[in-house]
Amino acid sequence: MRDCRDRAGETCSGDSAVYLGSDGAVRATPQKHPFDFQPTNVVTAVSEKDHRSNLDQRIVFITGASSGIGKACAVAFARAGARLVLTARRAERLEKLSQELESRFSTESLTLSLDVTDRQAVFDAVCSLKDEWGAIDVLVNNAGKALGLDKSYETRPEHLEGMLETNVKGLIHVTSAIVPGMVERNHGHIVNIGSTAGRWVYPGGTVYCATKHAVRALNEGLKMDLHGTNVRVSSVDPGLVETEFSLVRFDGDADRADTVYSDTNPLMAEDVADAVLWCAQRPAHVNISEILMMAVDQSHATMVNRSGKRS
Ligand SMILES: NC(=O)c1ccc[n+]([C@@H]2O[C@H](COP(=O)([O-])OP(=O)(O)OC[C@H]3O[C@@H](n4cnc5c(N)ncnc54)[C@H](OP(=O)(O)O)[C@@H]3O)[C@@H](O)[C@H]2O)c1
Repeated sequence: MRDCRDRAGETCSGDSAVYLGSDGAVRATPQKHPFDFQPTNVVTAVSEKDHRSNLDQRIVFITGASSGIGKACAVAFARAGARLVLTARRAERLEKLSQELESRFSTESLTLSLDVTDRQAVFDAVCSLKDEWGAIDVLVNNAGKALGLDKSYETRPEHLEGMLETNVKGLIHVTSAIVPGMVERNHGHIVNIGSTAGRWVYPGGTVYCATKHAVRALNEGLKMDLHGTNVRVSSVDPGLVETEFSLVRFDGDADRADTVYSDTNPLMAEDVADAVLWCAQRPAHVNISEILMMAVDQSHATMVNRSGKRS
């Protein structure tokens, strides 16, 4: 296996945007540090793009981009002008998303069918990125799942394996493949998607909560491992979010999954993506360690106001 650190020292390709000078002349955007803010009057033909973003042309690698929070992050970063590496197991969904982002924001993206539990495949995929895509600026470690709602000692072995392999080991595999390059470039940002389940435990969620407690430890420890570098580490920890999460948890039982969200007003995936983007858009000297966020209707792990949808 080729060590991803082989690409050490590569720098991001330059900005291609142009902007209007105060004298009205069109000029090329000057080379800037990746997380410096860009001029506010960048000229582009694409109306939905955020022209003021400091993420313009930066490379953002997202796991679990085929659904829910990962997909919403892809849209948010695309709007901010980033180039995306979209990964998940369901390749056809990624392809569709890539086309949508291309037409809405003129986003350049690569799609990689990737199972984060397969360490070799993760390293191969990262190493396969061509030069211009290899210098990843932001990693969003999002792929994850809860399986079942059983007591810990009754957890089915395949559920146990699925949660541990994806939420913990998968996150470590992707981090291990990408972070050495960030260290070499002394630049980058890892945003881990944790959960309120990483802070509190709830009945039936013991194993899932254990994996998210592990994500919290990994987030905190990674920042210490990177101490002295410019690489940033953040955790965004949401409560209830309406995605396919419950559909997966209940093995495709849509009726059961719907009951989780039908009588309350949960977070939407876009709310979480907003927070992830905000972390990435802070000035280079600022590291957001963690964000804990819940819907107004949620006050603790199982304390959810179920008095109905607001109009
Ligand atoms: N929804 C919530 O209430 C909630 C709350 C707190 C935290 N979270 C966390 O948010 C993250 C995203 O979940 P979500 O709510 O957006 O759920 P989701 O809609 O089910 O999305 C999960 C994503 O993870 C990907 N994934 C699952 N297993 C994978 C694997 N082995 N390899 C690669 N990708 C894999 C899925 O893609 P493929 O199936 O195509 O591979 C999918 O894109 C998870 O880490 C979850 O724990 C969710």
